[in-house]
Amino acid sequence: MDKSYSEWDFDVVVIGAGGAGLRAAIEASSNGAKVGMISKSMLGKAHTVMAEGGAAAALANKDHRDSWKIHFRDTMKGGKYLSDWRMAKVHAQQAPDRIRELEQWGAVFDRTPEGKTSQRNFGGHTYPRLAHIGDATGLELIRTLQQRGIHTGMEVFMEYTVRHLFKKDGRVVGCFAYNRSDGSLHLFRAKSIVLATGGITRCWEVCSGSWEYTGEGHALAYWTGAEMGDMEFVQFHPTGMIWPPSVKGILVTEGVRGEGGMLTNSEGKRFMFDYVPEMYREEFADTEVESSEWVKEVVSGKLATKRRPPELLTRDVVAKAINSEKAEGRASEHGGAYLDISWRKSEEIKKKLPGMYHQFMELAAVDITKEPMEVGPTAHYVMGGVRVDPITQETSVPGLFAAGEAATGLHGANRLGGNSLSDLITFGKIAGEHAAMSASQVGSFEEIDEEEIDTVITEMLEPLGREEGENPAKVVEDLRVMMQNKVGIIRTRELLEEALDDLDDLEVRGKNTMSPGGRVYNPGWHQALEIAAMIDVSRMCALSALMREESRGGHTRDDFPSPDNSKWGNLNSRIKQVDGKMEFDYTSYPPIPDDLRNLLDSEDLMEEEE
Ligand code: FUM
Repeated sequence: MDKSYSEWDFDVVVIGAGGAGLRAAIEASSNGAKVGMISKSMLGKAHTVMAEGGAAAALANKDHRDSWKIHFRDTMKGGKYLSDWRMAKVHAQQAPDRIRELEQWGAVFDRTPEGKTSQRNFGGHTYPRLAHIGDATGLELIRTLQQRGIHTGMEVFMEYTVRHLFKKDGRVVGCFAYNRSDGSLHLFRAKSIVLATGGITRCWEVCSGSWEYTGEGHALAYWTGAEMGDMEFVQFHPTGMIWPPSVKGILVTEGVRGEGGMLTNSEGKRFMFDYVPEMYREEFADTEVESSEWVKEVVSGKLATKRRPPELLTRDVVAKAINSEKAEGRASEHGGAYLDISWRKSEEIKKKLPGMYHQFMELAAVDITKEPMEVGPTAHYVMGGVRVDPITQETSVPGLFAAGEAATGLHGANRLGGNSLSDLITFGKIAGEHAAMSASQVGSFEEIDEEEIDTVITEMLEPLGREEGENPAKVVEDLRVMMQNKVGIIRTRELLEEALDDLDDLEVRGKNTMSPGGRVYNPGWHQALEIAAMIDVSRMCALSALMREESRGGHTRDDFPSPDNSKWGNLNSRIKQVDGKMEFDYTSYPPIPDDLRNLLDSEDLMEEEE
């Protein structure tokens, strides 16, 4: 088979073209680096667009009491105190500037009557904090960054998948990729690399992500020896579509609840009142408010109360509540819950949630201005990822940076909605700046070992050459169903042990798939190449979930249903590949300084100390 490849040299290679990748590329380029951006899909088609409801930033436009300190507190609390406080601080302090910068670059945010950037309520945020563009915020963010990026300068490689990272003397020096449309092979020499590859939730059967979301970035980092962290924490967004079956998992933005959507069960009861955790009792209504007027006053910002409807509890709480209602036999017709916003004026719904209106009309023949939606949890985000330096975003491998969902640290055990868009632009910028700085300190490009390149190519071409073997699509399907059933919202020791055994079997099957038909437009080949990454990221999740014998945020153990602060309260799981084996241990971030600690809820912290 033809093993020839093209060669490219860039100071900084950015892998991934979502919000974090674009923001990193803009910053690296603005700092004088020659930037190459590799995108698995077409430019613009990133999971960033699935952050529909807004970007969290304490602009204090809707409520003057908001500040970075309260955003910091909300993020730490929402993450169940497992976040890296240094990243949470930088994020809360810098997010407002990043939003203002986007506006200067042309992003068209919704406005308040006074002409300020409008902000809406979202789960776990004390005040209306999400700057938004209807329910298409991620899309507008991507559009704006793309336009800016094209002008600052970068070379874009669309429909390329990276298979391997090269190191020399411990430092990352390049990567190898193939072009998905024509099957050609490409060697990229780089002085530094930014991983901005997004997440892994395509490893679950029901997810909000599209086909690209198979965890290559996480796997590439792991395979190259970078430290990974917090992989047990997977976010199941409470509201995905559940009916008809063909659209199961598609996101229903939290913006619906932010605009006053209420959740009910088959008995018509607003069940979220029954699920307010102790740590949020002060902030959320604990008596049933019959009238939608109260919710309306709150969502419109007219009622200056810190008390919010319980539908705006954090995502981990709402997803588990919907799950429990189903387990108790009170699910909606197709196994989820009802989400109703039809009490609001039809024109308000169409203005604030135009995407949701069309999505339900076209995909489910449901008019959300008149009737409730049916929703249920969908795998949406992974809080775990590559461990990074909080100041530079550099990973434990010199020259390799990570930002956005590929990195871990900011969100702890559970991410607040809206904190991902602000994460992407805050840490994408930082990663780009430091990647460019690091590249400028490297002399010339390193030559890459021919033998290593040959091994990578041989492995890549293997599925094309096999005359016997399984269909890769079947292996992927079995993996996704298994992860859904055994490493889903509710986990047990038994299920997780089974999952790890199943992954060993799936790994063997994955190594023996065949994809005949040549290299041009061959999706079977692409899928065959994705399996190894899917197996290793799934294994990281299952192993970390097995080891954490408590429930916290996006990790729920039926056999250990409560958080155990005395044992796990400040332990972050860590994984590293050593001699081809997955090594696992725990670590902690440095102690939080008193001035920041004083911003946190003292009652939660006392609980932590018990
Ligand atoms: O529900 C949403 O609009 C998603 C936002 C997010 O994940 O941040």
